[in-house]
Amino acid sequence: MKKVNVAVVGATGAVGHQLLRLLEDRNFPVGTLRPLASARSAGSAITFRGESVTVQEATPDSFGGMDIVFFAATGSLSKELAPAAAKAGAIVIDKSSTWRMHPEVPLVVPEINPEDLRKHKGIIASPNCTTIGLIMALKPLHDVSPLTRVVVTTMQAVSGTGKEAIEELETQAKTWAAGATEGELAHDIYKRQIAFNVLPYAESFTENGYSTEELKLSAETRKIMGLPELPVTMTCTRVPVFIGHSESVLVSTERKVTPAEAREAISRFPGVKVVDDPANFVFPTAIDVAGTDDTLVGRIREDLTDPNGLWLWVVSDNLRKGAATNAVQIAEKLVEMGLV
Ligand SMILES: NC(=O)c1ccc[n+]([C@@H]2O[C@H](COP(=O)([O-])OP(=O)(O)OC[C@H]3O[C@@H](n4cnc5c(N)ncnc54)[C@H](OP(=O)(O)O)[C@@H]3O)[C@@H](O)[C@H]2O)c1
Repeated sequence: MKKVNVAVVGATGAVGHQLLRLLEDRNFPVGTLRPLASARSAGSAITFRGESVTVQEATPDSFGGMDIVFFAATGSLSKELAPAAAKAGAIVIDKSSTWRMHPEVPLVVPEINPEDLRKHKGIIASPNCTTIGLIMALKPLHDVSPLTRVVVTTMQAVSGTGKEAIEELETQAKTWAAGATEGELAHDIYKRQIAFNVLPYAESFTENGYSTEELKLSAETRKIMGLPELPVTMTCTRVPVFIGHSESVLVSTERKVTPAEAREAISRFPGVKVVDDPANFVFPTAIDVAGTDDTLVGRIREDLTDPNGLWLWVVSDNLRKGAATNAVQIAEKLVEMGLV
């Protein structure tokens, strides 16, 4: 099999770490591996296939000889360096939000719109971690009867913000357990205490009162599904969970889809599993998905106010299918389609 030279920008981060493990576990045919990060991490080492590989600082000259460059760093770095990587002849698979809505950049979930990969011009975007979980549950229903409206509330884990947010929740929980109960616990990454709390926002706010995360979720869902007019409305929240985004979803379809029909359609779809036996308290939770690739769907039930409405509870690992797994699947598809 042809070897593929791979660079990972952000190799020392939460998503970069998962990317490296997945490239190993899924036997991706890596030739040369080039781990890249900021100057802070240059000279440190990561382990890949049992060997120690030195991390280098990412610069515009880092990409010569690379076939695929994963970007799992910051949006501003993707904006600055992804064109340089593409110019050097690599295909960029970007995990940041920078390129997702660019009209010439395919935004891809391999189970849903793999053919869009053929349109790439050097940069391919991987969606937001909440969008991927949502859309994996929506697509099988849309195939049964076209969607007419989607209402979502997300409950997003702190690892979705990165490694410093994981540390913030850990520190707050330990400080609380040590007896600190007065006032808010010290916080820096989030604007309010995250431990034992629920924050009714993710990322920052825009002028219309919606958060940037909320606007991404609706725009990306429409782009991937190829449904530019689909009403998708939402509230995104951050919860004190380390890994796994949960989403409460109300979906309306053109004709009535019964819960039984929905369960069957979702079960048949690759990468999604129905976990739905509420009488026995069997439903998906964040703890169930941490470290796994499938999106889990439960609590499938008729809406009591809309005969064509269905409620779903959707959970997926934001670092795996929400980020690293989807990016590696894109790379695998590129190889399978002979595009790399
Ligand atoms: N976490 C998720 O669930 C998730 C899901 C979907 C998409 N994403 C996106 O994936 C990307 C990475 O997220 P993350 O959660 O892994 O963040 P993270 O844990 O904070 O890691 C950030 C990585 O980027 C590197 N980096 C930061 N500034 C840099 C610079 N100026 N030059 C080179 N490297 C730099 C860091 O290197 P140092 O270690 O040297 O600082 C680190 O390797 C983000 O764009 C995020 O929006 C994340």
